[in-house]
Amino acid sequence: MGLPMKRSRAAAEILAAEFKSAMRRLAAGVTIVATDGRGRPNGLTATAVCSLSAEPPQLLVCVNRNSAPNAAIARAGRFSVNVLATRHKALALRFSGATGVQGEDRFARGEWTVAKTGAPVLADAIAFFDCTLVDAIQSGTHTVFIGKVRAAHAHRNGTPLLYAAGAFQALARRAARANRK
Ligand SMILES: Cc1cc2nc3c(=O)[nH]c(=O)nc-3n(C[C@H](O)[C@H](O)[C@H](O)COP(=O)(O)O)c2cc1C
Repeated sequence: MGLPMKRSRAAAEILAAEFKSAMRRLAAGVTIVATDGRGRPNGLTATAVCSLSAEPPQLLVCVNRNSAPNAAIARAGRFSVNVLATRHKALALRFSGATGVQGEDRFARGEWTVAKTGAPVLADAIAFFDCTLVDAIQSGTHTVFIGKVRAAHAHRNGTPLLYAAGAFQALARRAARANRK
């Protein structure tokens, strides 16, 4: 009786591995999602960020339920999405936990200011979105946070930091120039 169960678990593991391997082909812009509840900032590096609608302006971010920023976003009811440039690679690593720095300490690097909603924003991000939380959908290991954009700003300088094939990447120079227009 135990065998079919084992087999289906193995199949699920293979599917998860195939899913991850296929997902590595999906190049994504790298952001830092940041929040601030009761004066305590928290944030994470995130690529699972997507435009939801322009009218009203809304976006969504998918955040692991076991991560500290998840609870912080839900509690604060606000968050910012900061679009990173290639020069922010070290900051992206810092906010991914790769350097062992957690919570508030992550904000000791980078030029952080406070947006209208009270969420921290990275002053030299190539773009940022300042959001209030309007919905949170739990699905599997993640929460889909939907943010209503209260302010958005795009800077001209800097080429976007990308993540693809399991590594940070940059656009080819011609594409980077076109991206600044
Ligand atoms: C390039 C990159 C993209 C990531 N994208 C996401 C994401 O979209 N959602 C997520 O929950 N975690 C993502 N992570 C992992 C989080 O950044 C990491 O788990 C973070 O440390 C969570 O915060 P905590 O350590 O305070 O719990 C990503 C990591 C990297 C390096």
